[in-house]
Amino acid sequence: MATALITGSSRGIGAAIALRLAEDGFDIALNDLSDSMFEGNDIIEKIKEKGVSCEYFCADVSSHSQCEEMVKAVKERFGSIDVLVNNAGITKDGLMARMSEEQYDMVINVNQKSVFNMMKHAGKIMMKQRSGRIINVASVAGLYGNPGQVNYSASKAAIVGMTKTVAKELGSRGINVNAVAPGFIKTPMTDALTEEQRNAMLNLIAMKRYGLPEEIASVVSFLASKDSSYVTGQVIEISGGLMM
Ligand code: NAI
Repeated sequence: MATALITGSSRGIGAAIALRLAEDGFDIALNDLSDSMFEGNDIIEKIKEKGVSCEYFCADVSSHSQCEEMVKAVKERFGSIDVLVNNAGITKDGLMARMSEEQYDMVINVNQKSVFNMMKHAGKIMMKQRSGRIINVASVAGLYGNPGQVNYSASKAAIVGMTKTVAKELGSRGINVNAVAPGFIKTPMTDALTEEQRNAMLNLIAMKRYGLPEEIASVVSFLASKDSSYVTGQVIEISGGLMM
């Protein structure tokens, strides 16, 4: 059985991706910051109901050493890492003039450095396997910018460059590296926005509705599948037509 490791997957888009990849037949390694994220949370049961194995691994993905340990533990538990989805991410919004150095560094470390940490450690295993799929979760903010998110858009734009670079480095080893760039998706992250901010976004979306986590998961499913065998280094925007 092939194994998929999804970071930041106790809730939101990560949980939807984990569930979808379980439906596709992958054993699932979940990750989040602490045990408490999984307590009273039915994601593990829902995944097991699909007939696959599932276990969670707590690690802060901004830590290089914790990522190394987690990748080792997942390999020991499941025998392989066939799909890595770098989904964990945070926002610490504020206009640049008022943004603190701490706010900037934290978002860069969690959203961007984590992708390096995870691709480096899981990539080593995939290189030995001579196969693997890496899917990084970027954002339309990294493609077009968004006021109040200089830290977040920097981290997500970096993911685009990292995806293309690592696709070039690992392509000859049978490893495909792609990214998805979600637009405005209904999750706890976006529930935190004000009504005014949400309405402003709706006006810009051709489909006049927010996306669902499952609509990100279906594209990740394609990128994790055999059907995308000749797709690498690409960024697929999933935004209901935000910018065209
Ligand atoms: P969320 O806040 O619901 O879920 C993110 C998960 O990542 C949480 O469970 C959180 O605990 C975990 N996490 C945070 N820091 C972590 C760390 N250091 N180590 C391990 N796990 C950590 O967010 P959502 O909306 O599901 O977002 C998932 C991804 O999609 C993020 O990368 C986000 O930037 C991206 N995205 C979301 C959009 C949206 O509209 N919701 C739009 C574009 C991109």
